Amino acid sequence: MLPPLRVGIAGLGTVGLAVLRLLDRRAAALAAMSGRMIEIAAVSAKNPAKDRGADLSRYEWFDDPVKLAAAPQIDLFVELIGGADGAAHDAVAAALRSGKSVVTANKALLAKHGIALAKLAEEKQAALAFEASVAGSIPIVKTLREALSGNVVQRVYGILNGTCNYILSRMETEALSFDDCLSEAQRLGYAEADPSFDIGGQDTAHKLAVLTALAFGTMIDPDAVAIEGISSITLADIKAADELGYRIKLLGVANRTSGGIEQRVHPTMVPRSSAIAQVMGVTNAVTVDADAVHELTLMGPGAGGEATASAVVADIVDIAKGLRQPPLGLPVSSLKPLERAPIQMHEGGYYIRLSVYDRPGAAAAIATRMAECNISLESIMQRRPWGDKAKRAEAVPVILITHATYEKSVRQALASVVADGFIAENPQVIRIEREQF
Ligand code: HSE
Repeated sequence: MLPPLRVGIAGLGTVGLAVLRLLDRRAAALAAMSGRMIEIAAVSAKNPAKDRGADLSRYEWFDDPVKLAAAPQIDLFVELIGGADGAAHDAVAAALRSGKSVVTANKALLAKHGIALAKLAEEKQAALAFEASVAGSIPIVKTLREALSGNVVQRVYGILNGTCNYILSRMETEALSFDDCLSEAQRLGYAEADPSFDIGGQDTAHKLAVLTALAFGTMIDPDAVAIEGISSITLADIKAADELGYRIKLLGVANRTSGGIEQRVHPTMVPRSSAIAQVMGVTNAVTVDADAVHELTLMGPGAGGEATASAVVADIVDIAKGLRQPPLGLPVSSLKPLERAPIQMHEGGYYIRLSVYDRPGAAAAIATRMAECNISLESIMQRRPWGDKAKRAEAVPVILITHATYEKSVRQALASVVADGFIAENPQVIRIEREQF
């Protein structure tokens, strides 16, 4: 048998503690698979005095994760600190510079520094493994990098944030408020340290940027992702979607077009009967459209301690077995620059919810503004007032469903509608996808 692989883990939150548990629980099986023992040699976290409900006395403690990353006591560094910069980045870079392999679950780090870190790993012939960074337990990194190498990928899309999907699901099934659902997701350990990254769509965008590089052989470019989060989604939108036969999902979509790669993250109304609408709670789903397989979907828990730790442990085992490969599938020198495609014509139309002052001429003015921007309306519904009483006296909800149009046209028409003064609140706009997903 080879000598043991000595592992250092930095970050002892929900995922870090779950990695310790899984490595313990599966020690004999993992040793048999790897041909060597996997030993935790040292750990690092912010507060050594915190009660984490685990016996950490067996492991050497490092206050400084950067020192742990370069320490001679370890062969492999596991980064579970989080954040694109600071300690997480410095520690990963230090580990790679000292020739150690790295496992990380940090999508923000990869989105921002993935190319530089992958290059460093290649130079040092070290592994940089990050299965847990995208869609929690789902092995989508391995799938794109290894299992689908015989394919040309056309599109990759999915539900990539467990917190958002949990919130949208609970709002629908329990009629709970957005804030209550977010608190639940935080309590269950799904949300980021700063949950605005979840609900603002940035977490999905980081993951999508990584998937784009793997799927299309391009550089990682998070700034090329058009992002819209779910914080403006209300119970009224969820109910209206339900009545219209849809569910609202936060989707990340990367699509190969003739003008480059289109990357977008936004809430989307999908038909209730579609496969993606059935993905509820913390579950994530990723679909790859590619020439040989046509369509491949992977689904599973997208966040949470043990589910995410499962992916971290799989990466540790690969490294213990001696697997080394370019982290992004291709060597960094072979990756193409990401050519950013303009957002395409949207075939499915839009849901627009307006809070309209109930005055003569309001509906006519709205319809005129839409027509001026060449937007064809499929339906206009004026609803009975909902929401708090103070607003009821003044404004009523009006829901417009458009035919296929450009997002730019919708925004332009709505700017004119707002300027006309018939609207009490900012319009809500959600894409409708009738057949795409
Ligand atoms: N906050 C993330 C989510 C964790 O909710 O999906 C997994 O990346």
